[in-house]
Amino acid sequence: MMILVTGGAGFIGANFVLDWLAQSDEAVLNLDKLTYAGNPENLLSLQGDSRYLFVQGDIGDAALVAQLLARYQPRAVLNFAAESHVDRSIHGPEDFIQTNVVGTMRLLQSVRAYWQGLAEGPRAAFRFLHVSTDEVYGSLSPDDPAFTETHKIEPNSPYSASKAASDHLVRAWHHTYGLPVLTTNCSNNYGPLHFPEKLIPLIIVNALAGKPLPIYGDGLQVRDWLYVKDHCSAIRRVLQSGRVGETYNVGGCNEKPNIEIVHTVCTLLDELRPKGDGSSYKTQIAYVQDRPGHDRRYAIDASKIERELGWMPAETFETGIRKTVHWYLDHQAWVTNVQSGAYREWVKANYAERA
Ligand code: NAD
Ligand code: DAU
Repeated sequence: MMILVTGGAGFIGANFVLDWLAQSDEAVLNLDKLTYAGNPENLLSLQGDSRYLFVQGDIGDAALVAQLLARYQPRAVLNFAAESHVDRSIHGPEDFIQTNVVGTMRLLQSVRAYWQGLAEGPRAAFRFLHVSTDEVYGSLSPDDPAFTETHKIEPNSPYSASKAASDHLVRAWHHTYGLPVLTTNCSNNYGPLHFPEKLIPLIIVNALAGKPLPIYGDGLQVRDWLYVKDHCSAIRRVLQSGRVGETYNVGGCNEKPNIEIVHTVCTLLDELRPKGDGSSYKTQIAYVQDRPGHDRRYAIDASKIERELGWMPAETFETGIRKTVHWYLDHQAWVTNVQSGAYREWVKANYAERA
């Protein structure tokens, strides 16, 4: 038995592959294009492990995907592959449409052809699990109830619009062709291997480098934070027991304004790696120009996955963020390696215009 994971060299995909192989002997085939966000170093510990196979390639490469499906006969495909950073989607939406929309459509077509050719037993057991985001639901006002799975789809950024489009495609491939799909819509993840273009790792990395900690706008935008390992356990649970055709919201009930997140990270760093001059990392906080169309608040109602599948997060925000800060302090070489020339170019482009 084998599963095919796409985008397994990225933040959540790599955590998922590592957790999967720590708990199961079922092999994983990882198909990843290795964009700037894909990092084979994330999976270095699996080198020589016969349960792990890596192929560099695009989910939109129909010939390659067909060949991999025919050769390895996976019992499930889990689609993590995506362009995932909202700010990058504002600078350049093209890649987001190409991978998240066109790529997902092509992947669905390849998987459908494979699935239709399976014998009755494997065909009935097969699953396509699509990993999506709470951003497809749009933005909440302070007093709105949290997003349920029936909340209207109201994406506001090129990124979230492309993810919403992919969710619709997945739904349609089930409705029209009967492909046995599952979709998860998760809130903001944080934890080990998070690429330092996203808020939490960026703050840790900038703080340690003595650089400004950029807060977009007033810093009062609210996100609902979930430790990445909890997202991975939710995906495993949905794959195992989710009802075909259903979507499941995943979240940690950890709504926090951005400025509070940054203060928490600074306080942890003050404790674990105090600055030589005795000042707090908070002194590096710098308010910068806001993200265009910035969603004000996300909050996930995860009662469906809890009720139907018995899933609950294991970490609180306090335990998860402490583990995360420790991880970055212990993995400075990883940080240095991902801060390539391309990374530096992005940081220059994104933050220069906000000064
Ligand atoms: P990421 O940007 O860290 O990783 C994405 C991975 O996909 C990279 O390894 C990249 O090389 C690969 N990839 C990109 N385009 C590809 C293509 N055309 N073919 C094959 N591989 C390709 O993203 P992430 O944060 O790990 O997110 C993974 C998934 O989870 C995404 O679908 C994202 O929308 C979703 N999600 C993310 C979060 C979050 O907080 N990070 C929350 C909810 C949902
Ligand atoms: O909600 C799930 C989504 O969470 C995922 O679908 C996306 O893939 C993932 O990137 C994340 O999107 P966000 O835009 O919420 O994450 P980001 O880390 O980019 O930003 C978190 C908040 O912090 C957001 O309100 C913008 C703000 N921010 C971000 C950066 C990079 C800042 O204030 N300063 C910054 O420098």
